[in-house]
Order: sequence, then C-alpha cells, then structure tokens
Amino acid sequence: MAGAGDYLGSLLAQGRSYRHLHRVLLAAFVLVTIFVLDRYRTALAGTFGMTEPVVVEVVEEVPVVSESPTQPGNLAKEDLSIERAGNSTLGFHAIYYINMQARYDREDAMALQAYISGLDIQDFPAVEADMIDPIGMPPSHRPRKLKTGEKGCWRAHANIWSEMVRTKSPPVLIMESDATWDINLRPIMSNLNKHFVDFLRRINSTAVHDPSWGAKNNAAALHRRDTAIDPTHVPADNTTTSTNSTESPSPIHYNPDDPWLSEHWDLFSVGQCFEHPQDKNINLIFPDPWVPEGRQYFGQKLGHERVVRKSGGITCTTSYAISHTGAAKLLMRSALDLDNPVDLLIRRLTLSRDLVAYSVMPPVIAQWEYRGDVGMTERGSQSDINGGKHIDTPESANMNGWDGAVPEKNSVWITKAHHRDVTFDKMALDVAWSEILGDAQLKKSWWDPKSGD
Ligand SMILES: *[C@@H]1O[C@H](CO)[C@@H](O)[C@H](O)[C@H]1NC(C)=O
Ligand SMILES: *[C@@H]1O[C@H](CO)[C@@H](O)[C@H](O)[C@H]1NC(C)=O
Ligand SMILES: *[C@@H]1O[C@H](CO)[C@@H](O)[C@H](O)[C@H]1NC(C)=O
Ligand SMILES: *[C@@H]1O[C@H](CO)[C@@H](O)[C@H](O)[C@H]1NC(C)=O
Repeated sequence: MAGAGDYLGSLLAQGRSYRHLHRVLLAAFVLVTIFVLDRYRTALAGTFGMTEPVVVEVVEEVPVVSESPTQPGNLAKEDLSIERAGNSTLGFHAIYYINMQARYDREDAMALQAYISGLDIQDFPAVEADMIDPIGMPPSHRPRKLKTGEKGCWRAHANIWSEMVRTKSPPVLIMESDATWDINLRPIMSNLNKHFVDFLRRINSTAVHDPSWGAKNNAAALHRRDTAIDPTHVPADNTTTSTNSTESPSPIHYNPDDPWLSEHWDLFSVGQCFEHPQDKNINLIFPDPWVPEGRQYFGQKLGHERVVRKSGGITCTTSYAISHTGAAKLLMRSALDLDNPVDLLIRRLTLSRDLVAYSVMPPVIAQWEYRGDVGMTERGSQSDINGGKHIDTPESANMNGWDGAVPEKNSVWITKAHHRDVTFDKMALDVAWSEILGDAQLKKSWWDPKSGD
C-alpha cells in the first residue's frame, strides 16, 4: 500500500518537474524565436506580410517584449497599412466563405487555393433549402418571386450581416464557395490598397453615416447628447452644418488597423460579374502587373491596369467586403421588403445611391465552374441556386476532357465563360496541381488496364 502511495507521489512530483521543465523550454524557445526573428526582420520585410502573423503571435504571448519597438511615423503607417492589406485575411477582420453542406468539391477548391496563396478563410455554413420556412422570411411586396435557393442564399449572407450588426464588427470579406483568384492575391490586394486610399483621397471621400449607438461620426447623436447636457449652448440646427473652410472635410489617414478605411464605405466588391454604368466616371485606373493586357473599361483599352471605381450596382456576390454600416443597411432593407435575390438587393440599393459602394475591374476574385467535358454539368454541379435531387454523371455525359485538356492542363476548372471582365495572370486553381504535385502526370497514377493495378 505504502509502495503505491510512494509511486503516486513520485508520479506527481515528476509531473510537476515536467511542467517546470516544459515552462523553461517554452521560455527558451520564445527567446530564441524572438532573437532569430529580430535578426531576420529586415530581410523578411521584403516578402509581403509573411512574417507578420508570426511576429504578432510572439508579441501577444510574451509580455516582456515592448508593444511597439519603433513608434511608426506616417510613412511607417502607410507601409504597414499597405502590408496589412495583403495579410492572410487581406486586411479585413476575417474572410468568411459560404458553402452548402453537400458541396465538398467547392470546399476542397477553397482549401487548396487558400493553402497555396496564404489565405486564412473561415467556413460560414450556407442556409440549406430545408431550413427555409415562409414563416420566418421577411415580408415582400413581390411575394413568390424568389426561389427557395435564392432565399437560402440571401439568408446565408444575411446571417453574416446580422452577426456584424450585433457585434458592430470590423469589416469582413465574404466569398461564395465557387470563388477563385490569382495565386498572388496578397500582393495584388496590397497594391490595390495603396491606390484605393489614393482614390478615396482624390474624390474627397467623407465617412458614411454611422447610425450605431455612440458612433463618433454621428453628428446628430452628438448634438442630441449636447442638448441633454447643456440646453443653453445648443447651436441652432441651421448652424450645425457650417464648416470651417480651412479644414478639409475628412482627412484620409492610413490606418494599419483598418487598411481599407471602412468608415468610408458600406460595401466594396472585389468579385462581381457585372457592373452598372452609373458613376463609371468616378474611377482611378492604376498599374497592376498581375492584370493581363487587353481588358476594356467602357471602350477604353487597358494595359497591365486595374480600375477602382464608384459602383453603379453589381451583379453576383462572389466576393465583397462589407462594413457594419453596410451590413445594417442591407439587413434593414431586406427585413422590410425581401423583394430581390441578394445580389440584386445590393445592386438596387447602390443604384438608388443609398449604399456607398466601390468595385474593382477586372475583379480580383471570380467564379469558377467545371469545364463542360468532365461530366459535371450533367450532375447539376454548375449552380447551387436550383437545388433539387442530383444524379451521378450519366453514361451520355460529355467526358472528352479526360483524354485531352484535363491531363494536359492539370485542371478541371475554368472561370465562368460569359463573365467577360474576368482575367487572371495565374489563376490559383490552374496552378494548384503544379504547386502541389510539381511535374507529376495525372495519367501515371491512373488505373492501368494492362497490369490491372
Ligand atoms: C476635392 O477638394 C479639392 C479642395 O477643396 C477640390 O479642389 C477638388 O476639386 C475636389 N475634388 C473632387 C473630385 O470633388
Ligand atoms: C437660423 O437660425 C436662426 C436662429 O434660430 C434663425 O433666426 C434664422 O432665421 C435661421 N436661418 C435659416 C436660414 O434658417
Ligand atoms: C477655422 O480654423 C482655423 C484653424 O483651426 C481657425 O484659426 C479659424 O478661426 C477657424 N475659423 C472659423 C470660422 O471657425
Ligand atoms: C490583417 O490585418 C487586419 C488589419 O490590421 C487585422 O484586423 C487582421 O487581424 C490581420 N489578419 C491577421 C491574420 O493577422
């Protein structure tokens, strides 16, 4: 009996000393990491954002390290801001992607692309057809207009808006699960960021109305609060709008914590399939080496250039960033009258100029679909909106791709053919095979009828 007690005691002591050793080792590891990172910091700084998540982690876990060794000046702020716009969440609070439960194929395409292009993406479950019950759908002045698939799609987006409004979340990037992008998306977004901030400056952008409780830009709310505090010093309503002409309306400062300056917009589409001409002249054309030459912007031929513009009204919600003010507007609009599928809701609220929206052309993110000759069209895999039961690839399906283009290109994916603005230098799905498997040939790992293996 005493033996068992001793044994237990020594086990506990061992456990304690292991824990102690563990702590010592952890501390040593952290110190060495800091030392190594510090030595290589300047060398690594040239590669976009790669070091940043690591450094942040170390700083957060070890209180000994001072919060900011060098107080960033304005130039440092600009650099940091541009770099953050190309971090693994592209300068947003998070990247959510919406996926239907059954679409494992799309989930895998997202995972592979994110893996090779350094993105940190989070699955936000779609709303399945069996979760849609008319009792919980908002009123509509055009009832029966939306298909069940369209209602589910709207609700998946609305679930994110609702969460953002509840938490007054910083801006997030929303993607649908058939999204594809260039493998260099991170540097592309850094480059876009620099020009987007310049664009906002040039158009004298001012912050959008922020109705949230306690918002600093909410002049009306401030006024109400002043009234409550000192009624004798209330300026007459007609004087509150007078501005000091020597001050710029809203100076635009780089902000590494919010590199996209989200208080200036409700929505920023980086993945529409079509745009409306309204406000097309409010734009900035800027150099982007990752855009292949030959696109047109309303008749103007583009070189290695991209356009950032005030949105007229988008079609397709393949990928857009949204701020809490935008989330609140879209949630408000659809709670009152759910008369449009989600993309047209956004389009019409932009056309009416109630939503402050911007977009890029060519879009940075686009929709993929399967090549027509791999047997997927026949399964109904090209769209989720129609729903219903699906069958496996039938005998009659077009399977020509398997003998020709697929083993040659190592890809079954293409961008949607009729989205004419879309162009990529290196579409991530096109280069995924060679990134992951190098020179491997698909057919070499096929079943061999000769050997039976
Ligand atoms: C922006 O403001 C400046 C200074 O007031 C003015 O000269 C310029 O025309 C404005 N630009 C636009 C696009 O409104
Ligand atoms: C502005 O307010 C003052 C004081 O209430 C009033 O006398 C004046 O008529 C107002 N002016 C305008 C243009 O409304
Ligand atoms: C405008 O701002 C300048 C500088 O802050 C100040 O000197 C001036 O008195 C202000 N003018 C008015 C009308 O408020
Ligand atoms: C990327 O930058 C944004 C803006 O500073 C920040 O909110 C986000 O947390 C960063 N992402 C990661 C993974 O650190």
